[in-house]
Amino acid sequence: MKILIYPNYEQMSVAAARFVADCILDKPRCVLGLATGETPIGLYAELARLHHEEGLDFSGVTTFNLDEYCDLPKEDSRSFHSFMWRHLFSHVNVDPRKVHTLKGTAPDLEEECRRYESLIKDTGGIDLQVLGIGVNGHIGFNEPGSPPDGRTRVVTLTAQTVEINRAKEKVESLPGRAVSMGIGTIMDAKQILLLAAGRSKADIVHRATRGPVTPSVPASILQNHANALFMLDLEAASLLETGFLNTPCAAGECTV
Ligand code: PGA
Repeated sequence: MKILIYPNYEQMSVAAARFVADCILDKPRCVLGLATGETPIGLYAELARLHHEEGLDFSGVTTFNLDEYCDLPKEDSRSFHSFMWRHLFSHVNVDPRKVHTLKGTAPDLEEECRRYESLIKDTGGIDLQVLGIGVNGHIGFNEPGSPPDGRTRVVTLTAQTVEINRAKEKVESLPGRAVSMGIGTIMDAKQILLLAAGRSKADIVHRATRGPVTPSVPASILQNHANALFMLDLEAASLLETGFLNTPCAAGECTV
């Protein structure tokens, strides 16, 4: 895996957007896997700016979101569907027919998961998968112990994940169940871009990148991916033994 470290969240987000934009420029009909959470908000804001100011064209792009809460209608402001429209889709010229999110209210969730997997396959697979990382190492909603070859499925969230998300989103409650791409689904992406920022992610970033590959740290499996790129801010990288972390990254990025 490759790790790039940026002086702060803003510069990490701008670099991540450049990376995603280059993927779109290289392949205008590319397939993006997208994540929700606080971390990619800066990336999405910068992609919107690139669309408005530099004409970055999303019209050929297909997207698949990683996960969705069960039992929330997509119109609910807490749903990841709403999140994506709020932060990205309504600010760019994406074709709504090419935007895919899991339906957490589907009457048959198993069938919904199978539908999603086939749809991903039918589009030729995910070219670039954007990920965040939970403090427990989850990617998507693949909590510790998730099978490394798992596919899209119904998952039960840990109480810690529900509470962290509830506090961040400043909402009264969130469902304890979700539908999520599996680790196997994520590993099938041709390129992975994982973003992590802030001191609260330092320990898990260290374990995911420097520790053993183990289901108890789901993100550690990315060490086995042929094209995994981690973009970190200095705080998230602060426990990596790079030897230069006291030196400002004058060029805007440092490769570990
Ligand atoms: P965050 O969430 O970006 O809000 O920190 C990441 C995650 O839980 O996957």
